[in-house]
Parts: sequence; C-alpha cells; structure tokens
Amino acid sequence: MKNDIIIAIDGHSSTGKSTLAKELAKILNYIYIDTGAMYRAVTYYALQKHLISTNHLDKKQLINDLDKIQIDFKFNSDKGFTEVYLNGQNIEKEIRQMQVSNFVSQIATIPEVRKKLVAQQRKIGQQKGIVMDGRDIGSVVFPEAELKIFMTALPEIRAKRRYLELLDKGEDINYNDVLSNVLKRDKIDSQRSISPLIMTDDAIKIDNSHLSRKEQLKAVLKLAEKKINRN
Ligand code: DC
Repeated sequence: MKNDIIIAIDGHSSTGKSTLAKELAKILNYIYIDTGAMYRAVTYYALQKHLISTNHLDKKQLINDLDKIQIDFKFNSDKGFTEVYLNGQNIEKEIRQMQVSNFVSQIATIPEVRKKLVAQQRKIGQQKGIVMDGRDIGSVVFPEAELKIFMTALPEIRAKRRYLELLDKGEDINYNDVLSNVLKRDKIDSQRSISPLIMTDDAIKIDNSHLSRKEQLKAVLKLAEKKINRN
C-alpha cells in the first residue's frame, strides 16, 4: 500500500517552484498541479474578453463569467507533465507571456476567483499523491499537507532566470521590466488581504539563490521520502 502525501510548494515568483514540483511529481509518480497556471488562465480569459487592461478591471463581469470558465489539466505524455486548458483550449504557452504576468496578481486578489480555484484545487488533491505549487497551498488550500516547502531567492537572481527563460521563448523583453514585474508581484502577493503569501510555521524554507536545480531536488526529495515512509 502506497503512503501518498500532499506536498505543498509555496514561495516568491520565479523561484523555480514549478520546475521543482514537476521533477518531484515525476520521480514520486504523483500528480503535479500548477495553481499559478489557474490564476493565469482566469487572467487570460479576462484579457481575451477585454475585461482587464491598464487602469481598467470589470470585476463584476468577470465574477459573472466565472461559471463559464472551465479550467482543466491534461497530462502531455511527450513533455511528461500536465498542461492547462481553458474551455478545452490548451493555453500553456499563452499564459506564460508578459501580458498575462502583468495582470495576474491583480486577478488573484479577487475573492470570488480564489474561492472557485481553491475549491477545484482541494477536489483535485483529495486523493493525495499530489505536488501542488502556488502561494497559499500550505496556508489555505492544504493546511494539513504533510510536507510544506517555502521557496525564495534574491529578486535579481529570480529576474535574471525569468528573463533568460522569456528570451529563450522568443519574447522581446528587457531585464529591468522583468525585475520590476518580479518586485511588483512580490509586493501584491505578500500584502493582499486575502490569502497573502506567507510562510507557515511548519514549512521548510529553501533559499535557492545559490543552489543548483539538482542540489535542491535532492534535498526536497529526501524530505519527501522521509514523510512518505513515516506516513
Ligand atoms: O506561480 P505563478 O507566477 O505562475 O503565479 C501567478 C500569479 O498567481 C502570482 O503572481 C500570484 C498568483 N497566485 C496566487 O495568488 N495563488 C496561488 N496559489 C498561485 C498563484
């Protein structure tokens, strides 16, 4: 009998939470859910419907439309991880663009949006055997998670990683814009009144400013295996 657990990975933006979560899920044969992708999917919807732009947010219409927003995750066997779908359309690529990053924190402050997404996240995690990453997984979605990781790194290092990632994807971007987006999102995520990004007392902090991907994975895998064997 497998002793499946819930692994909650929270932390600042661009700390490599998704990369770590994906690698862990693959090794443990767990489901991986990127909750940021869900907030990004709602943001993408709002942009498509012209409900959000600079200095404008039609919150009322977006809340009205929430029932029409269906978010699903499907496993892509070629890539080896789950991808996000909005009303049947694969939007994995679209939601990573800067335009979505620029508005997503604002969308994530809307209580009705959070309520809908948290309910879906809890449902997906009911069976355990899950690695979920986000901002409020250990604090709100799964306070009972057996393993909670809180990831952070210096803002300049995070911005550089994100910048190189976006360049690689062919986006026309400059480093200072990425750095200010990272700092702005940190501020909104940590200071919002609903489900702010916090490190819970039972979370284990990992600052990966000077850690390699491999070193970080090894450390967290060890923690996970300890919890799984104890469970
Ligand atoms: O992890 P990410 O950068 O893709 O997340 C995008 C935004 O969504 C981030 O600025 C904060 C928000 N978010 C959130 O509020 N709660 C979550 N569980 C996940 C993301």
